[in-house]
Amino acid sequence: MDKLVIEGGKPLSGTIVIQGAKNAALPILAASLLADGTTTLDHVPDLLDIDVMLNILRELGCRAEHTGGTVVLDTETAHISHVPEALMRQMRSSIFLMGPLLARFGETQVYQPGGCAIGERKIDLHLEGLQALGAEIEELGNRIICRADKLRGADIHLSFPSVGATENIMMAAALAEGRTTISNAAREPEIQDLQGFLNAMGAKIMGAGTDTITIDGVQSLTPCRYKIIPDRIVAGTVMVAAAATRGQVTLQNTQPAHLSSLIHVLRRAGVQIVIDGDIIKVGCAARPRAVERIVTSPYPAFPTDLQSQVMVLLTLADGVSVLKETIFEGRLKHVDELSRMGADIRVDMNAAFIRGVPRLYGATVEATDLRAGAALVIAGLAAQGRTVVEQIHHIDRGYEKIETMLSRLGARISRYTPVPNN
Ligand code: UD1
Repeated sequence: MDKLVIEGGKPLSGTIVIQGAKNAALPILAASLLADGTTTLDHVPDLLDIDVMLNILRELGCRAEHTGGTVVLDTETAHISHVPEALMRQMRSSIFLMGPLLARFGETQVYQPGGCAIGERKIDLHLEGLQALGAEIEELGNRIICRADKLRGADIHLSFPSVGATENIMMAAALAEGRTTISNAAREPEIQDLQGFLNAMGAKIMGAGTDTITIDGVQSLTPCRYKIIPDRIVAGTVMVAAAATRGQVTLQNTQPAHLSSLIHVLRRAGVQIVIDGDIIKVGCAARPRAVERIVTSPYPAFPTDLQSQVMVLLTLADGVSVLKETIFEGRLKHVDELSRMGADIRVDMNAAFIRGVPRLYGATVEATDLRAGAALVIAGLAAQGRTVVEQIHHIDRGYEKIETMLSRLGARISRYTPVPNN
């Protein structure tokens, strides 16, 4: 298993171009199945999760190539509607295929998906949404069989604004007969990007970015060329890393509006942020201040995907901060690892009480999930001495060669790949 070795204590400095958004690219890749022919997607990040999605699409009969950030995907030869269990288990986002496969083939068989161990991660809202559109769903153990002779538009209210359920319903409803309305829809930027892509293929969708999305079903969609939005979580991770190392970093290819809740929190912590178009400059010359209360919630509130990274900054802040996680119940596992580096954190239910310490110390730690892994890398960059981060396959799911990106900013970080024994 690969490891990252970090010699900490060096402020990050320089300019970085932010990769395309994983969480936008994954549903858009799945949505490509809704049109027959060749779709070209630009700014698709080179990540493990994208490889898994492309492998699944190939398994379904598509032809897919990913070079230099561009994916060329030919769906014309797709003829299989069953996603193999082994591939489903590799990634939670495989569930995005349910809506498009159902719309394309009138039936699909999938399995309970895998993914980060950050909580229960149910899919009941996905299934209820597809049922409302007319699908019959049979659950046999972890196998899910879904059939629909015809999908028909419906009014669907989500009891929670689930990102994935909103996206699955949008994709299935794009080819359904009549109008679908999703109320209490998720408002994340990635949903707006999916709407942008589907409309570029000829769909009639309005309202993404608000809590009500209206989809007027069309007969067919046409393949197109589309550019994926910048990854707000990767941008946020770099911003926090710049602040935690007391560095000075310029980020290019960002959408600052997608990061407003993080920018607000960082400014409260005393971090200097200058925005100029799609460029964000982050600097932190002095010790950050504690932030009284941060609560993760659906967009546009503070994202759960930046909770662990911001926690690292707060471990070094002056005073006591409180961070409450409301989206995923298992998402405070990095606390134990940060404590091994000298952080002073007490957890009570889903809240972390963080008393800032003057410094963290290098240690051998384990990435427990994707974003927790990124947080440990930030901790290693800020810490005194050497940090070894293990189980970094989690990090490779969402960050394009994280060690290369951070080395460009002057970090002393390298990947160690053990030589296999023969
Ligand atoms: C997406 C993101 C993930 C992010 C999360 C929350 C992608 C590929 N992943 O995940 O990075 O952390 O949004 O911002 O876009 N829930 C149910 N029933 C369902 C679906 C969800 O109870 O059918 C619950 C989940 O258990 C969780 C909460 O809703 O507690 C949020 O999940 P959801 O918004 O669906 O997140 P994902 O789409 O899985």
